[in-house]
Amino acid sequence: MPDLDQTISQLHAAARAQLASASTLEALEAVRVEALGRKGKLNEISREMGRLAPEDRKRIGALLNATKQNLEAELAARKAALEAGALNQRLQAEWIDLTAPAPGPRPGSLHPVTQVQREIEQLFVSLGFTVLDGPEVETEHYNFDALNIPADHPARDMQDTFWLKDGRLLRTHTSPVQVRGLERLGPPLKMIAPGRVFRNEEVDASHEHTFYQLEGMMVDRDVSVAHLIYFMKTLLSAIFHRDVAVRLRPGFFPFVEPGFELDIRCLICNGSGCPVCKQSGWVELLPCGLVHPAVLRASGVDPEQWNGFAFGLGLTRLAMMRYGIDDIRLFTSGDLRFLRQF
Ligand code: FA5
Repeated sequence: MPDLDQTISQLHAAARAQLASASTLEALEAVRVEALGRKGKLNEISREMGRLAPEDRKRIGALLNATKQNLEAELAARKAALEAGALNQRLQAEWIDLTAPAPGPRPGSLHPVTQVQREIEQLFVSLGFTVLDGPEVETEHYNFDALNIPADHPARDMQDTFWLKDGRLLRTHTSPVQVRGLERLGPPLKMIAPGRVFRNEEVDASHEHTFYQLEGMMVDRDVSVAHLIYFMKTLLSAIFHRDVAVRLRPGFFPFVEPGFELDIRCLICNGSGCPVCKQSGWVELLPCGLVHPAVLRASGVDPEQWNGFAFGLGLTRLAMMRYGIDDIRLFTSGDLRFLRQF
């Protein structure tokens, strides 16, 4: 049966051509299945062998075996070549120059609030102030009572409080450190107390539930509003290195009398109105006033002998104005794209 001899060599030639052009291992496998697989063309012929005349059977059988063996060897060689090519490609693509200089560690930086805080600390230390710390978990006594805010006083509602199960609270402002400082060090005293405070309030572009304040207080003999204004002006020009428009309004806080609100012209929109200043053009930054006699008394200080001023700077808001940050939520976002700018 010369036909069958021819068919086998044609199949072999066709399979060879296919495997030569197969450029992936998957394509090669497809060639193998088509030619040598159980349902492949060569095995189809093997299954028909029984029908051949005995003299043909021997010859065709030998030819089939030889063809299968050759094809298997050719497939293996092609497979090895493809694998070597793939490895080479990977080596090219993933090549690393071990002698290249390392990119070097990426240095971290201080958080923008910490940077502003340190600047203010330096300024006040140079003016003779002491830097004090106070606990973030406070008692009702220091956060409210000693500051002349009795239980039924509406001012307690002004500062929405996170209460703990044991009756203590997360301090709503840094003012408790006024009392702790006076109790511990006594007058005369010039102190500042930067720190984190917490309020259970709605968060928006200028309000956080967790933010920073910096308390300041000076208690001495004959302290006046003029002293207060002098220190506030010194503070603002040191921070902004330029003239910023400020306005002083009467403000009510039970722990000062008289009390003021010092606002600065919004530096995000230059006063034209934006979400940070709630379209008013002004940002509340620095409530202040003369220390209320009741606070001095609660701190063990005789208000007949001593008086003083105090202020509670919104440190996070100040950092917003200083760096032109238009959303307070960025500070605690942990977003490295934000933090790497400082
Ligand atoms: C107080 O907390 C007073 N203890 C300040 C004070 C101290 C007055 C000493 C007089 C004498 P107030 O609630 O206004 O006041 O907050 C002070 C500043 O903190 C505000 O001017 C503002 O800049 C900032 N602040 C208040 N609430 C938030 C908030 N949710 N997110 C960010 N900053 C805030």
